[in-house]
Amino acid sequence: MTPSTADDDALAELTAATDAALVVVTTSFDGEPCGCLVGFHSQCSIEPYRYAVWLSKANRTYRAALTNEHLAVHLLGTADHDLADRFGGETGDEVDKFAGCAWTPGPHGVPLLDRLRHRFVGRRVALLDTGGDHVCAVLEPEAVELGGEIRPLRLGAVGDVEPGHPDP
Ligand SMILES: Cc1cc2nc3c(=O)[nH]c(=O)nc-3n(C[C@H](O)[C@H](O)[C@H](O)COP(=O)(O)O)c2cc1C
Repeated sequence: MTPSTADDDALAELTAATDAALVVVTTSFDGEPCGCLVGFHSQCSIEPYRYAVWLSKANRTYRAALTNEHLAVHLLGTADHDLADRFGGETGDEVDKFAGCAWTPGPHGVPLLDRLRHRFVGRRVALLDTGGDHVCAVLEPEAVELGGEIRPLRLGAVGDVEPGHPDP
C-alpha cells in the first residue's frame, strides 16, 4: 500500500461501504436557531464519554459552533428523509430551515427538533482544525433522550440530496 498514490475512487468506495448513519447538529447563530445535516460523527472516547462531529468550514452551523459552547446531535430515522433534505440541502445563510419545522429550546437554549427524539446536547470541550475543510468539535454529552426504536437513516439513502453549502 502506498498512501501517496491513494486512488480517490477507491477511497470513496471504501468510505461509502461504511454507510454512515446521519445526524442533524443544531445550535444558535445570533440568537437564531441553525443546524445542518452531518455524516461525519462518532463516539471518540469511552471514559470519559466524548462524541465528535466534523463541521464544514463553509457552513453557517460551523460559524455558529465557534461561538456557542453547546450543540445538539439528533439521529435521523428512515422516515426523516425530508429533514435530511431540509438540513442538508439548504443553508441557513439563505433560508430559515426552522420555519414550519417544530422545535423547542432545550438545555442552554439549544434548539431541539421535536420530531427527532433520539438526541443529546453536548458541551464543546475541544475544536480541532487539522487544516482540512472540516473542523472537529468534541462534545461532552450533558443531556440525552431516546425516543423508542432506532432505525437510522443512512448515507446511502440520501444520494439525491446536494449539500446546501458546497465545501470550500
Ligand atoms: C449526505 C450529506 C452529508 C453531509 N455531511 C456533513 C458533515 O459531516 N459536516 C458538515 O458540516 N456538513 C455536512 N453536509 C453538508 C451540510 O449539511 C450542508 O451544506 C448544509 O446545507 C449546511 O447548512 P448551514 O450552512 O445552514 O450550516 C452534508 C450534506 C449531505 C447531503
